[in-house]
Amino acid sequence: MKTYRIAVLAGDGIGPEITAQARRALDRAGERFGFALRYEEALLGGCAIDAAGLPLPPETVDCCKNADATLLGAVGGPQWDGLPGARRPEAGLLGIRSALGLFSNLRPAMIFPPLQTASPLKAEVTGGALDLLIVRELTGGIYFGARGRCEVDGQPAAFDTEQYSVPEIERIARVAFSLAEKRRGRVCSVDKANVLESSRLWRETVARIAREFPGVALEHLYVDNCAMQLVRDPKQFDVIVTSNLFGDILSDEAAMISGSIGMLPSASLGAGKAGLYEPVHGSAPDLAGRDAANPLAAILSAAMMLRYSLDEPEAAAAVERAVRQALEQARTADIAGGGLPVCGCAEMGARVCALI
Ligand code: IPM
Ligand code: MG
Repeated sequence: MKTYRIAVLAGDGIGPEITAQARRALDRAGERFGFALRYEEALLGGCAIDAAGLPLPPETVDCCKNADATLLGAVGGPQWDGLPGARRPEAGLLGIRSALGLFSNLRPAMIFPPLQTASPLKAEVTGGALDLLIVRELTGGIYFGARGRCEVDGQPAAFDTEQYSVPEIERIARVAFSLAEKRRGRVCSVDKANVLESSRLWRETVARIAREFPGVALEHLYVDNCAMQLVRDPKQFDVIVTSNLFGDILSDEAAMISGSIGMLPSASLGAGKAGLYEPVHGSAPDLAGRDAANPLAAILSAAMMLRYSLDEPEAAAAVERAVRQALEQARTADIAGGGLPVCGCAEMGARVCALI
């Protein structure tokens, strides 16, 4: 039987609870569709700082490099907030994305029909067909540019640098256009080209790459306008492609439109097949250890893994279908409603498994 090797970086807070449910769903999908999964756990983030003194131990990078795909929970928590930037849990997350060359981050935002009322937007704004995909550049820009402390006019100051090279923009643009070809054929490139030079290079490069994809329509929006359009009329979007920082911000906004950030998965991909899959939400330390987290974003991330890294599209579709059906049976607290019973993280995972 085909056996896939999966690196599991459960991380901090609710990370271990939600990745446990994602693993159950993967195992169940394997049973059903005839493949097996072998998991290897490694440390990332705060738990790695506590156990090994650094947020990304080299063994963790090796573990992921040897795997067919990586499942990640979440990192961070208040106990590590006082550490200097390079030793914080988040540095481990940026480090693993960079070490694995995962330059494109796919963050879909859609409304599951049973959750229509969970969206803070009116039903006539989101109604029916909200299904957009944010393609966020993940290993460049201000997250990885030169930064430091300095002095300005004798006063302490600090700086971060937004820098993009043409090849970095070209490759993320190609990812976005290729995905749009398989969707509704529209790309919206988001920048701040009225102010930033890096955005002007971004815009002209994306426009040039667009000519390789004659079947895809390209438009450009400034990031402030895009933030506004996302709540005014989110259904106008198909694929949004943008920089690391803008993508971080807009993907949280898009996630909330769908009702709960606890629902949204992500895939981080590089040149090869082996991606990293993680929910968009964070480690939610206040929920940790209480069986109260929503495991569906992690389970949907596992579905993305089945589709993009493991070439098991039928299994992916079965997991996604099971999630939709589970939402009609019970709800975790963050998406409570519809007159349905409220259940914990493990029960939600069990319900999804039973439906796969
Ligand atoms: C995300 C998170 C991370 C990011 C943080 C935790 C470093 O917000 O994945 O969106 O900014 O990339
Ligand atoms: Mg974020």
